[in-house]
Amino acid sequence: MQIILAYGLSSVKKHMPPIRAFANGDLLHALPPHFTTVLGQVATLAQAHHVAVWLVGGVVRDLLLAQPIKRDLDMAIEGDTVALAHALATATAGRVTAQHAPFGTATVELPTAAGTLTLDLARTRTETYPHPAALPIVQPASITNDLARRDFTVNAMALPVRLSATNSPTLAATSLLDPFDGRADLQAGVLRVLHTQSFRDDPTRMLRGLRLAVRLQMPFEPATRALLDTALSNNLLEQTTPHRIRTEVCLALDEPDPVAVLHAAENLGILPHIFPALHWHPNLATWQQRLPPSADALLKMGILTYTLSERDRATLIERYRLPNDAARLLRDVGTLHNRLPALHQTSLSNSELDALLHPFGRAALLVVRTVEQPLVDERITHYLNHLRDIVPLLNGHDLQALGVPRGPLLGTLLQGLRAARLDGQVATHADEEAWIRAALDEGTRGSKEA
Ligand code: CTP
Repeated sequence: MQIILAYGLSSVKKHMPPIRAFANGDLLHALPPHFTTVLGQVATLAQAHHVAVWLVGGVVRDLLLAQPIKRDLDMAIEGDTVALAHALATATAGRVTAQHAPFGTATVELPTAAGTLTLDLARTRTETYPHPAALPIVQPASITNDLARRDFTVNAMALPVRLSATNSPTLAATSLLDPFDGRADLQAGVLRVLHTQSFRDDPTRMLRGLRLAVRLQMPFEPATRALLDTALSNNLLEQTTPHRIRTEVCLALDEPDPVAVLHAAENLGILPHIFPALHWHPNLATWQQRLPPSADALLKMGILTYTLSERDRATLIERYRLPNDAARLLRDVGTLHNRLPALHQTSLSNSELDALLHPFGRAALLVVRTVEQPLVDERITHYLNHLRDIVPLLNGHDLQALGVPRGPLLGTLLQGLRAARLDGQVATHADEEAWIRAALDEGTRGSKEA
């Protein structure tokens, strides 16, 4: 039986989907069938291994919000997680792709009718933080303590996964474990930390909250907002390793609307603590809309950082030790900015356009094309579609056969031949040979005259 609860705060938050309340156990059955099948297998093995298992975290939240569940499942295990992971992999023809026995964590990938499903299994645990932003000391604990170590009430709910009876093939009708009233906060549409030290313990929770706030349109409730302000003014983000910040920023780029996340980061005063030169501005939304929905995080980063100076780009690369592809994109876009006046010239031959754009990676060209409309967009599109991949018919061996000695001249002639092809001066094999002979003659004449 499915009951749709009346949405009490509709005048305050019209955009929030209503919480669906299901009869006991039905939340699990709201999952796509390939998930429930796997959960049945997990429950069977959990019974055999005498361990208790819960579905936890974002999946439970999203189930309550009736959001589609497309992703991997997080599970909490009271008991030997690594042993359960191996048993599950054996039973499902899957494999354990990661395991860390001291922390009691394991990842299992298993085949289902709907593709590979990833289960992240973690032994229920407490976490204590020796000092702000430190990595926690982890100890086995009950599910209730495990929920108490989490970030927000809406993420601190669990659904038991067990069989309805010994050896029964069906999942038991179970009720939500919700010790912090996350369901009420979900209904009110707010993010609330579980305790006052939360952001101090783990400052990345501010960034996790930022993403959730934007994605689910759930603001921080006032006391949580006050704690966030205090954590920011105590510079807790600055005490967090750049690597951890970078990981969170990458997750933000994977959100449906990274520009909105940037905007919220600025409004909440988070942005200056991550990178003070970065600002939201209204054009960003327009630029982002021009990207295809499939655009990867790299392009989104290129858009969000578009207005940064070359110096700030270098600082960003350095501070967050950006990987090669991101660093190259940032540098390329910076250098391309300097070429914009040249790209705006009224007439540009193909070979001139090629000379301007050839040094740059594709991602940077796509970013600049997205922003600089219409003329530069047209030119970059023309370059990418018709010029970039063009090569002469003759190669280095052919040129040697025509008498060009090995060495720098050979490279120069190949480049010149490519430019001639781009500009339509040569078409056939014979044209190219004639072009090379002419260039060699001219070179010989030139050196004799000299
Ligand atoms: N969690 C936490 N604090 C963190 C990271 C994770 O409390 N710093 C807990 C939360 O309960 C979270 C769960 O671990 O719900 C799973 O984390 P993760 O998979 O990173 O996030 P989800 O909540 O599943 O969110 P998303 O929808 O963004 O995947």
